[in-house]
Amino acid sequence: MLSNTFIPAFLTLLGGAAALGPAAVNLGTAGNYTILAETGITTVPPSVITGPIAVSPIGAAAMTGWSQTLDSSGKFSTSTQVTGDLFAADYANPTPPTLTIAIADMGTAYGDATGRTSPNFTNLGSGLIGGLTLTPGLYNWATAVSIGSDITISGAATDTWIFQVTGTLTVGSAVRMTLSGGARAANIVWVVTDSITAGSTSHLEGVFLGKTSITLDTGSTANSRLLAQTLVALQSATVTAPS
Ligand SMILES: *[C@@H]1O[C@H](CO)[C@@H](O)[C@H](O)[C@H]1NC(C)=O
Ligand SMILES: *[C@@H]1O[C@H](CO)[C@@H](O)[C@H](O)[C@H]1NC(C)=O
Repeated sequence: MLSNTFIPAFLTLLGGAAALGPAAVNLGTAGNYTILAETGITTVPPSVITGPIAVSPIGAAAMTGWSQTLDSSGKFSTSTQVTGDLFAADYANPTPPTLTIAIADMGTAYGDATGRTSPNFTNLGSGLIGGLTLTPGLYNWATAVSIGSDITISGAATDTWIFQVTGTLTVGSAVRMTLSGGARAANIVWVVTDSITAGSTSHLEGVFLGKTSITLDTGSTANSRLLAQTLVALQSATVTAPS
């Protein structure tokens, strides 16, 4: 087995700096979905989603606004608003057990991300982080976080971020998250104990693990996975899974 120091040392030998930031959060099979929610996924059309998207344990009736068409197999449906399939816990096998595992994996990922200790940054900006540039690391806020103006998430392609928010996460209207230096949305995790709200025409980057709801207001865009333990509500939003 490789030692924990082998891979960073190897990268350094190659001439690159070792990755900065916490160990990656393993999303398991939850990472197969652009949007995964336990109590529903709603859209005010037209949203533009690069899927798949899924609800469990609730059934397909909780996916509203999609005008979805059930496939003849009964295993998934399709919608003009989604590139990729829509899944629900009351579709035909193997969809229900596959989704049960994905929901469990989402819970495991949430527990892992919230459980990380020894943050590099504690209560940065007293929870008001508009205008800041966020370098790799584990961030913890014992409070809600509000982003009232643009932020930059800056680091290399292999660097990682975990943002632990205790309370709500609110992104203001027209506020943008921007990546710089090669930072990748797939390596950024926002883990939030309460609701997540993105204002109209805002832009999000990263994986969002929400204990409750995630709401994207009109015209907002996200280079994200939205993984919610209650509802995901979209108002003509664009969501693309990070590569
Ligand atoms: C989902 O992801 C896992 C691991 O990330 C993979 O092994 C699996 O084949 C994927 N597909 C389904 C339908 O779960
Ligand atoms: C963050 O804190 C951890 C634990 O104290 C430390 O090992 C790591 O180097 C820090 N990372 C950064 C990017 O400062």
